[in-house]
Amino acid sequence: MTHPFRTAAVIGAGTIGLSWTALFAGHGLTVRVSDPRPDLAEAIDSALAEFTPHLAAQGVNTDGLADRVHLAADVTEAVRDADVVQENGPERVEFKKELFAQLVRETPGHALLLSSSSAIPATAFTTELEDAGRILIGHPFNPPHLLPLVEVVPGERTTEEAVQAAVDFYTAVGRSPVVERQEIPGFVGNRLQNALSRQAVYLVQQGVVTPEDLDTVVTHSLGIRWATVGPFLGAHLGGGPGGYRHITEHIGKSMQQLTLGEPSQDPEDRERVVQAVEKAYASTPYTDLAEARDRRQLAVLSALEDNRPNQHNKEN
Ligand SMILES: NC(=O)c1ccc[n+]([C@@H]2O[C@H](COP(=O)([O-])OP(=O)(O)OC[C@H]3O[C@@H](n4cnc5c(N)ncnc54)[C@H](O)[C@@H]3O)[C@@H](O)[C@H]2O)c1
Repeated sequence: MTHPFRTAAVIGAGTIGLSWTALFAGHGLTVRVSDPRPDLAEAIDSALAEFTPHLAAQGVNTDGLADRVHLAADVTEAVRDADVVQENGPERVEFKKELFAQLVRETPGHALLLSSSSAIPATAFTTELEDAGRILIGHPFNPPHLLPLVEVVPGERTTEEAVQAAVDFYTAVGRSPVVERQEIPGFVGNRLQNALSRQAVYLVQQGVVTPEDLDTVVTHSLGIRWATVGPFLGAHLGGGPGGYRHITEHIGKSMQQLTLGEPSQDPEDRERVVQAVEKAYASTPYTDLAEARDRRQLAVLSALEDNRPNQHNKEN
């Protein structure tokens, strides 16, 4: 699996697959895309038109990007000469079982086989396969051409060589892979997101804040902090010179005594939250909101790139 990554197959070209397509082609790979959707050509054209400027803003040389993207008639054609396959089809275990059995049969033996799945671990769709060693999860955050994290999650039978190859591959396309050693449901990122989302819904249901105010609390405090330091380093710094030990002993105890509560799953209570979120945001067109989000995310990425840890010291 020390093969260079020259040709990628993208299977499933919805929200995630189209974004991977642009990213891989932006980093010089030939990309073969397969999806039964009848509008595949138009979907690729419009995704490349939208995403290419995002990649250019991240310093990617986008010359000839579109020429490296090819529509495949079917999965067989897409994967025939692939060095790496990124699967982004429906989130159904039966679909993944069938598809990965086909990939094992039809890809070159060195090809790395990656699934974007958010919730189905590789072990769930590889137990019946003979050649499961090169299959694992590469779970992105949406959209993967902007958000750098990829959670690399091996299944029970994935080889260490394939894990390292996945890390090498995602690093080569400018991502930040993190290897996770257990197939815990939701992996790590979505578990963290889920914990915060549950509390957000609870606070709105309790009438403590509106959805807009809750979003402001996050974007004006935790969001900015967490783009620069994660929860552990943030707490270590929050503890002052005594660091993480001090904050754990000092504020940690009272924080542990908080009873957080769970949001109500009653359909009427859930509907009230949906209506409150729609009241806040549904009058602005989706494309405007998404464009503003992407523009601001790019600005954050650019600021972080200009201010990497220790860069200030190195320059002085
Ligand atoms: N949307 C997200 O925020 C997100 C984030 C991370 C991971 N994921 C994961 O990525 C995967 C794709 O999610 P999505 O949001 O892009 O879904 P999507 O519904 O936007 O796209 C799925 C695509 O798969 C295609 N498809 C259906 N049958 C197929 C087949 N036989 N061969 C090839 N393609 C086929 C569909 O036509 C569709 O275009 C899922 O496993 C999901 O869990 C999604």
